[in-house]
Amino acid sequence: MSASDGVAARAVDVWKEYGSGDAAVTALAGVSVELERSRFTAIMGPSGSGKSTLMHCLAGLDDVTRGEVWVGDTKVTGLRDKGLTELRRDKVGFIFQQFNLLPTLTAEENITLPLAIGGKKVDQAWFDVVVDTVGLRDRLSHRPTQLSGGQQQRVACARALVSRPDVVFADEPTGNLDSQSGAEVLGFLQRSAREFGQTIVMVTHDPNAASYADRVIFLKDGHIVRELLSPSADEVLETMKHLDSVQVAGSQVVQHSGSSRV
Ligand SMILES: Nc1ncnc2c1ncn2[C@@H]1O[C@H](COP(=O)(O)OP(=O)(O)OP(=O)(O)O)[C@@H](O)[C@H]1O
Ligand SMILES: [Mg+2]
Repeated sequence: MSASDGVAARAVDVWKEYGSGDAAVTALAGVSVELERSRFTAIMGPSGSGKSTLMHCLAGLDDVTRGEVWVGDTKVTGLRDKGLTELRRDKVGFIFQQFNLLPTLTAEENITLPLAIGGKKVDQAWFDVVVDTVGLRDRLSHRPTQLSGGQQQRVACARALVSRPDVVFADEPTGNLDSQSGAEVLGFLQRSAREFGQTIVMVTHDPNAASYADRVIFLKDGHIVRELLSPSADEVLETMKHLDSVQVAGSQVVQHSGSSRV
C-alpha cells in the first residue's frame, strides 16, 4: 500500500504507548487519518490528548507502537536512521513555537539552511516568491536578534517552505506571538495552502488560529473524536466545550458536523 496521489500524509490505526506497567500511557489509541494534499489542517484537543504525539509520529520524529504512517509515497514506519534523516530533510518542514532559528546566521541563511544541509541548490524564483509572500525582503541580512518575534516566525515559515516539502508541520506556531503577528503567520500558512498547494498540519490551542484551517481535527484521550470543515472560531470553541461529553470507549468515534467545505 502507498499513499495515493491526493494524500500527503496518512496514519493507519496508529497506537503510541509511552512507558510500561503502571506507568504506561496510551497517547494515541488507534488513530487513522488522511491528510489531503494542499489542505491546511488544524489539530486541536485538550492538553495531553495526543496532539504533539500525533504530529511527531506523522513527521517521523517519534516512532509508533503499532500501525503505519506514510508521508507521500514513503512508508515512515520501519524507516531506519538514514531513511528518517532523509525524510526529515527532504519531505517535511517544521515550524515550532520557539522559532528555532540559528542565531549566528542571517535570515536568508536560516531560510536556505535545509537546502544547504541537503546539498541542494536554491531555486531562486521560488525563494523570491516565498520571501516576498512572508514580507521579509528588506530583512534578509538581519540576524534573529535583530528581528521581532513575528519576523522570526516568518523566517521559520519561509525555511519550512523553501524546499517544497510534502508536508509542513507546525506545533503552536503562533503560541509566542501577539495577535497581529499571529494573524500574519496564519494568513501566510493559509495562502501557502491555497495558492502554492502546500500541505500544512498545525497543532494549536487557539480556536481563532484553527479557523484559518480548511479542516479541524479534535483529539481526546488519544482518539480522533470530531472533525469540522472550514469552521468559524465560534464553532471551534463550541466543539471544544462539548468534547467532555464525547465518549471515547470505542476505537473509532469520529463525528462529522459543521459547515461544509466550499
Ligand atoms: N515522552 C513521553 N513519555 C511519557 N509520556 C508522554 C511522553 N510524551 C507525551 N506523553 C504523554 O502522552 C500524552 C499525550 O501527550 P501530548 O504531548 O501528545 O499531548 P498534547 O495534546 O500535545 O498536549 P499539550 O496541549 O499540553 O501540548 C500525555 O498524557 C503525555 O503525558
Ligand atoms: Mg503538545
